[in-house]
Amino acid sequence: MSHLLDRAGIESVVLEQRSREHVESRVRAGVCEQPTVDLLRELGLANRLDKEGLPHSGFSFRFDRADHRIALTELTGSAITVYGQQEIVKDLIAAGGDIRFDVSGVAVHDIETDRPRITFDGGELECDVIAGCDGFHGVARPAMPAVRAFEHVYPYAWLGLLASAEPSHHELIYASHERGFALHSMRSPEVTRLYLQVDATERIEDWSDSRIWDELHLRLATDDGFALREGPLLEKSITPMRAFVAEPMRHGRLFLAGDAAHIVPPTGAKGMNLAIADVLVLSKALTALLREHRQDLVESYSDTCLRRVWRAEQFSNLMTTMLHRPPGEDEFHQRLRMAQLRYTASSTAAATSIAENYVGLPF
Ligand code: DHB
Repeated sequence: MSHLLDRAGIESVVLEQRSREHVESRVRAGVCEQPTVDLLRELGLANRLDKEGLPHSGFSFRFDRADHRIALTELTGSAITVYGQQEIVKDLIAAGGDIRFDVSGVAVHDIETDRPRITFDGGELECDVIAGCDGFHGVARPAMPAVRAFEHVYPYAWLGLLASAEPSHHELIYASHERGFALHSMRSPEVTRLYLQVDATERIEDWSDSRIWDELHLRLATDDGFALREGPLLEKSITPMRAFVAEPMRHGRLFLAGDAAHIVPPTGAKGMNLAIADVLVLSKALTALLREHRQDLVESYSDTCLRRVWRAEQFSNLMTTMLHRPPGEDEFHQRLRMAQLRYTASSTAAATSIAENYVGLPF
């Protein structure tokens, strides 16, 4: 947001509650849509991404003990780039701007006026506008007086793993197995990123390294000799899965963007990409407001963003419900899920629909 505003000649201050070290080391998803990569390049922020990012022209659905490839580039002309969100965070911070870390006690005021204010421990800022890019647990959304929230909590969670091991396949594998979902991803030629569907109530202490590897081997097994490479686990964490949308995304001069306004379940890796789409729309709206005194893009900001948000919610929900086995699933619904997976993998029309959403619809 700050880099986009800077390009338009608009000054900004970023207030971050956590430390620089914390935000740079927090492991998040790693799939960049084509429009995300294009925008970072346009802003001159993709030098390291272009060197270290891993371009992927397809991924596999794995079920019935075999791979069913979705040929992203053949189907759409676009690709995705595997590059950790935390690496993008590092690159954006390194590129400069007025970022204050370790800021506590943040509160927003006077959002219905032309001079909204932010107070925090040891300071105050008088602003033209406030962008609430402060995540699901931030202070911006609760400061909006009339928000309608839409929410769905999925009855399972993801156990996320980082392994010091060479990836076992050159592409991502989304595996649907009767024991539950598993995902094989990567961060570099030496680091594999893996996820396992676990019960929503599960505790990390109950997942020993050997139990994790046993479960991954079972869910990722094929009949064509796939061998999962093991390595020391560098990180383990459990993430609950929810969908959440707040409407509208603006009140007066307070704007919500990213997780402050919406959460998608992680299957499909849309979270960061959606946040970047929001701030691109917001930067254009704020440029029109502050440089040309035009209200129209500010007025339409919420509707413009919410259309893309609900598209991503629907796609993420589809990927999630198609691939995960909910607790207590009956055989009828299990067979419906398998029918949908087999259709998606065998029909060019169905595969193209998945692919164009996966690589990212144009901004
Ligand atoms: C990753 C995360 C996702 O949610 C996904 O759908 C694909 C990859 C990842 O962390 O690499």
